[in-house]
Amino acid sequence: MHIRDTSEGYGIISRLFHWLMAVAIVAMFILGVWMVRLDYYSPYYNSAPDIHRSVGMILLFALLLRWAWRAINPKPSDADLSPFEQKASYIVHWGFYVLLLALMISGYLISTPDGDPISIFDWFDVPALIKMPGLETPAGNVHRILAYAIIGLAIIHALAALKHHFIDKSAVMTRMWSGPLNSPPVSEKENHR
Ligand code: HEM
Ligand code: HEM
Repeated sequence: MHIRDTSEGYGIISRLFHWLMAVAIVAMFILGVWMVRLDYYSPYYNSAPDIHRSVGMILLFALLLRWAWRAINPKPSDADLSPFEQKASYIVHWGFYVLLLALMISGYLISTPDGDPISIFDWFDVPALIKMPGLETPAGNVHRILAYAIIGLAIIHALAALKHHFIDKSAVMTRMWSGPLNSPPVSEKENHR
């Protein structure tokens, strides 16, 4: 099993980051949309946003780790993609990182402008860095727009991945799902030609 990424595909660390975060981001979106509609008398009125903020801050930490891991790993080759697809996937992948970072920062800014820290599952506190009452409203608007934009991008991204897999029958999905192929040494490959 490959720990690190190779030019042939993603190692286990990148694959776990990708799929666990994809599930968590979609779940956070559903939780966010649901919780802002809760009535004051709902038993989840306080606990749902507490969970949303705690998971969100953990995802911020995970995003930074994932970014660092990507930076110190070789990039899987995209030579099998057309120049348009190479450019589009580059923009979409970087778009995800930038929009997710902005989403998480805007979530932090909705939660801290009164100077209150964010309690992460009552384990530890993330302090408020900026005290600016009133910031929660614009930060909330930005947060909502970014959340919808990221889900829109994820739908396009998933459709593109499925098209590569089922229509083009290329290895794009396989290298993110099962990782690099354990390709035999060159001499062995030549023996089988
Ligand atoms: C994967 C990351 C996240 C996603 C997908 C996400 C998504 C959402 C969505 C869809 C809403 C509902 C917006 C609306 O309809 O008004 C929301 C609200 C909210 N989010 Fe997030 N969020 C994320 C991360 C965070 C983080 C890191 C924090 C704070 C630390 C946070 C704090 C909040 C708060 C306080 C609200 C309620 C805003 C209000 O009352 O209007 N979120 N989020
Ligand atoms: C919110 C959900 C998602 C996010 C934020 C996301 C983000 C990303 C990012 C940033 C990459 C670039 C590699 C990396 O840095 O790890 C990537 C690659 C990939 N994603 Fe997603 N993804 C999501 C959901 C999905 C879904 C649902 C599918 C499939 C149905 C999928 C399939 C792939 C594939 C196949 C690659 C490899 C592409 C290549 O090597 O060129 N992703 N994704």
